[in-house]
Amino acid sequence: MIQDLEARDAERRLSISMRAQTTVLVVDPEPSSGARLAQLVAPMDVEVRQATSARAARSELAAHEFSLVVLELDLPDTSGLELLSELARRYGEIPVVVTTPASKSGDGVRAVREGASDFLCRPYEEEEVLYVFQKTIQSLELISEPPKSTLARERSAIIGSSPVMSELERTLQRVADGVATVLIRGESGTGKELVARRIHEQSPRSAGPFIKVHCGALPDNLLESELFGYERGAFTGATQRKPGRVELAEGGTLFLDEIGDITQAMQVKLLRVLQEREYERLGGTQTLTADVRFVAATHRDLDAMVRAGSYREDLYYRLSVVPLQVPPLRARPDDIAELAVHFARTAGLANGRGAMGIDPQALELLQRHRWPGNVRQLQNFIERLVLLADGPRITARDAQVWQPAVEGLEAPSEGLEPPAASLGAPGAASEVEEEEVVSLALTLARAEKRALERALQKAGGNRAAAAKLLGVSRRTLYYKLQHHGVS
Ligand SMILES: Nc1ncnc2c1ncn2[C@@H]1O[C@H](COP(=O)(O)OP(=O)(O)OP(=O)(O)O)[C@@H](O)[C@H]1O
Ligand SMILES: [Mg+2]
Repeated sequence: MIQDLEARDAERRLSISMRAQTTVLVVDPEPSSGARLAQLVAPMDVEVRQATSARAARSELAAHEFSLVVLELDLPDTSGLELLSELARRYGEIPVVVTTPASKSGDGVRAVREGASDFLCRPYEEEEVLYVFQKTIQSLELISEPPKSTLARERSAIIGSSPVMSELERTLQRVADGVATVLIRGESGTGKELVARRIHEQSPRSAGPFIKVHCGALPDNLLESELFGYERGAFTGATQRKPGRVELAEGGTLFLDEIGDITQAMQVKLLRVLQEREYERLGGTQTLTADVRFVAATHRDLDAMVRAGSYREDLYYRLSVVPLQVPPLRARPDDIAELAVHFARTAGLANGRGAMGIDPQALELLQRHRWPGNVRQLQNFIERLVLLADGPRITARDAQVWQPAVEGLEAPSEGLEPPAASLGAPGAASEVEEEEVVSLALTLARAEKRALERALQKAGGNRAAAAKLLGVSRRTLYYKLQHHGVS
């Protein structure tokens, strides 16, 4: 567990240090309104590029790295909502803030239900624009979203027929029907979010929205307004009423991710909405009712936190009406082969290499590993093998060369740590052991460099496409290219 937490913190630090210049794409048929936005966010040190049609937006996205897209819903060549779903499919990690005239704010709400991260109404109010930009960019810095391949994102199938997973699947079917709050626990990368989505999809609420809140990513004041919304004038920057995620999830499911990461003050506020189903928007007096099914997840040991007094017992009980545990991969070795075969096939197809296979001896090697980063680590590893393997199948030799044989050497979600990090690893290793670690680290670093070069070459130098091929975020790719001196 400790190792798990440390890995996540390291991941977070990495994602913060990786932040390059923030570039924003403003898609608006009216150049003057794009220019107005650029002017408003000038104090934030962001670079703004503009596109006046969906077509121009596509070329911008293919040619540059963006941290945020601001999208006017009324476009000349494609409907804004269509472009929104295209962006989610192709560039899932880039948040999209949509814009509408104030008279059509309902369209903005609809867009958020369909995946936009927020909306802004025209005429723009300086403080609101700054607030939304700050919030979006802040959560970008703090959330280290796991990389997800498009195919994996499209699929919600839960692979694995080991007894524990079959049991989980059965329980899931039973709880999906009800409205009781579900608490999903499990180590990082075990598939908690997948399970949450599956509960929603199997539930009578599946036609409603599935809205996710990353509770650990925002400071209290932002998290509170994110959850409950606010009234005009509730704070500086609140120039008009805005619904919160609870309201947006109406008729559907609200996924409270990383619920173990909230402060005591937020625990009290969440308890009320979970218990009474009632809440107010910030600065509002009207009490609203939450017609929402809550599903929460955490990788933390909430029992221990309750015992230590850092987590409210009443909230804990309220959350865990239906507790679900997603077992770590090492507790279900039978699933490793099934998952590996699935990922090789889907990653092969996604990367234009056809459905790749895996030799039985290679599967055996994979089954022997402990996979501290769980399914996500296995998935990333297989995706890398798919890119690097020379033939149509992954052989034992490939897996042997690439197997992340030293526990903790590989960062759970994003692949390889630079060799310096592994050299500094704690523990009194003998010289011989240390030498092995170094040489393995170097081997892995070289392999990573080769994978980067190969992906860039395949993508014709397009970094966005190369990042997609490698299944990492574009900022990670940027960082890694710099680290290895690849240009
Ligand atoms: N049983 C499974 N079958 C297929 N894919 C899986 C399975 N479990 C996890 N995955 C894939 O592994 C990756 C990690 O899963 P997910 O994001 O749900 O993990 P998590 O438990 O929420 O991790 P974290 O605590 O780090 O947020 C995702 O790409 C997901 O699609
Ligand atoms: Mg998760």
